[in-house]
Parts: sequence; C-alpha cells; structure tokens
Amino acid sequence: MDQQDLGTDIEKVLVAEAQIKHRLTELAADIDRDYAGEDLLIVGVLKGAVMVMADLARALHSPVRMDWMAVSSYGSGTKSSGVVRILKDLDTDLKDQHVLIVEDIIDSGLTLSWLLANLKSRGAASVEICTMLRKPEAAKVEIDVRYVGFEVPNEFVVGYGLDYAEKYRNVPFVATLAPHVYS
Ligand code: PRP
Repeated sequence: MDQQDLGTDIEKVLVAEAQIKHRLTELAADIDRDYAGEDLLIVGVLKGAVMVMADLARALHSPVRMDWMAVSSYGSGTKSSGVVRILKDLDTDLKDQHVLIVEDIIDSGLTLSWLLANLKSRGAASVEICTMLRKPEAAKVEIDVRYVGFEVPNEFVVGYGLDYAEKYRNVPFVATLAPHVYS
C-alpha cells in the first residue's frame, strides 16, 4: 500500500516507510548488542504492535522468543485511566527471563507504566521497553524507555499498526488523517 491508495485520507506523513525501516535496523543493532549472550523474550502488545514486532524481530540477528499480550482500559473506556485489564495474557513464565516489551506508541504512558510493573512483579530478570513512536507532550507519567524509534507531536496518528476505528493499521508509514475522515 502507498499514499496514492489512500486518496485524500492522508493529511501529512510524519514518518516515511524508509525512515521506519532504517530506524528499525538501528534499534535492532542496539538490542542485539545489549542482549548479546542472553536469551531474550520480546512481548508485543496487541494489536498496535503487530507491525513493529514483525519487522523488529526480523531485523534482529539472534533467535528471540516472541509472545503477545492484549490489554484494555478498565471500566470507563478512556484508555488513559491507567487501570488496565488483561484480555490475553502471556503463554510464557517470566521467572528469570529478560523481557523486552514492544509497543507501537507511548501516548500518556499509563498503559506501559502498568504493564512494566505487572511484568516485573512476575520475577523477570529484566523488563525494558521498545516503542516505535512516543508523544513526549502527552506524557502523564515518567517511564524509562530504553529504545525509541521516533518522537511525534501530540496529534492523532495512524499507520504502522495504529488505527482510526480499526482502519489504517496496514498503512506502511505514520501519518495524520484529513479532517473529512473523522466527519
Ligand atoms: C495504544 C498503544 C498503547 C497505548 C498507549 O493501544 O498500542 O498500548 O494505546 O497509550 P497510553 O500511553 O496513553 O497508555 P490501544 O489501546 O489504542 O489499542 P490497540 O493497540 O489495539 O490499537
């Protein structure tokens, strides 16, 4: 898929496909170096992290294990409540494991903050975070994120796993949508 396929839906491309690919190679090299000689479990947070998990995993030079979680905000429906419910848990026992959580985006940081504490409490040897995108202006909580692809402004973005009403996840770049899409 490319921008032409989307007609007038795209307002502005914030991160191009080639930039994502290049940055992933850099992040993978850092991760390979930092975990050299260790067994690593990468954990993708559904659904947004599917693209970055698939591409990052293939850019790594070591045979990592991969597992998945699905989480949702509890109750109110506002995902920034910080209270998270597990919809699908890991299949892997984390005891003494080196864990790298992989995300598409950190917005308020509340989901990751909760997830970090949750996975650490399971006895992992280490838990770190890799995110393709981060919105520094939207942060409501400070989290130590080891690997960040790109910082983006505090705007609604889609593509590379990120959706609007479940669409646009398969757009291979990160973009803002034209106002008519929302109306
Ligand atoms: C997105 C993203 C993170 C979370 C970040 O997931 O994948 O998990 O929001 O937001 P926060 O930093 O404000 O907590 P979303 O809930 O949209 O679900 P999805 O991955 O299924 O699209």
